[in-house]
Amino acid sequence: MRITIVGCGAIGSKLAKAADDMPEVKRIYLIDLNRGYAEKLEKELKKAIVVESVEDELYHCDLVIEAASQDAAKEILMKSVSRGVDVMMMSVGALVDDDFRSQTFDKANNSGARIFIPSGALAGTDALRSASSDEITSVELRSTKNPKALADIEYLEKKGIRPSEVKESTVLYSGTAREAVKLFPRNINVAATVSLLGIGFDKTTVTIILDPEVKSNNHDLIVTGVFGRTECRTFNVPSPDNPRTSYLASLSAISALKRIIRNEWIGI
Ligand SMILES: NC(=O)c1ccc[n+]([C@@H]2O[C@H](COP(=O)([O-])OP(=O)(O)OC[C@H]3O[C@@H](n4cnc5c(N)ncnc54)[C@H](O)[C@@H]3O)[C@@H](O)[C@H]2O)c1
Repeated sequence: MRITIVGCGAIGSKLAKAADDMPEVKRIYLIDLNRGYAEKLEKELKKAIVVESVEDELYHCDLVIEAASQDAAKEILMKSVSRGVDVMMMSVGALVDDDFRSQTFDKANNSGARIFIPSGALAGTDALRSASSDEITSVELRSTKNPKALADIEYLEKKGIRPSEVKESTVLYSGTAREAVKLFPRNINVAATVSLLGIGFDKTTVTIILDPEVKSNNHDLIVTGVFGRTECRTFNVPSPDNPRTSYLASLSAISALKRIIRNEWIGI
């Protein structure tokens, strides 16, 4: 298999290193807006080469993996599925745009391309997926983060909130997943994933709490429905290279790639 990884940051680098050791992966194409990041990673790998654009490689690539940004996801998804090439995406928040989502999924249906969305930094998506085969009453996501994970957010800057100066546990946001994904585009991709799996962006509720005492990125996923109730708590260690990104998100991308390559679907 030949894969293209778009974005050579915390997730893309970790995934590329794991893919480099997978015998089934024969070639890894690397792309980053900052070419230097891709070149640095290329030097550490056996099977990688840096390329200029996803489009150029689509003829000889089996899977495109987006680990960059919502904007990158929007561009890459459409290009890949239009040409019938499978895509894995990490910036799931891009799918909050209903028109874009339905156009992309329609294109993928027509071309036979598959869109893979790893569970990311969250546990409990398996139960939510099963539960959604019958009626779900509520889906609630409560995320508690350290100030470092919430740095440089335009919405907070506009509100005059400096996360590093907050001294006690503070609710920053409470509302729909749709708005959460838009206001915190790099921080709450899991809200998009649970919305897609469960009851949608407008009915899924999200609370984001900033807590200076907390060292991990914590997610509580609470689902109720005909099946009963599940409360699933994840205490995520931040990635060494990017405190916004939980290390589990990188591991979920690696595990998704292994499942795709080996066609193993245990616990789906
Ligand atoms: N699904 C999840 O649970 C989950 C969890 C964490 C992060 N994410 C998302 O995954 C993405 C990657 O996360 P990360 O921690 O690796 O980020 P990162 O900032 O460490 O790395 C992103 C890399 O992508 C590059 N990049 C940005 N836009 C690009 C573009 N248009 N084309 C090519 N390269 C581009 C950047 O230069 C950077 O090197 C982010 O959008 C993040 O929000 C998802």
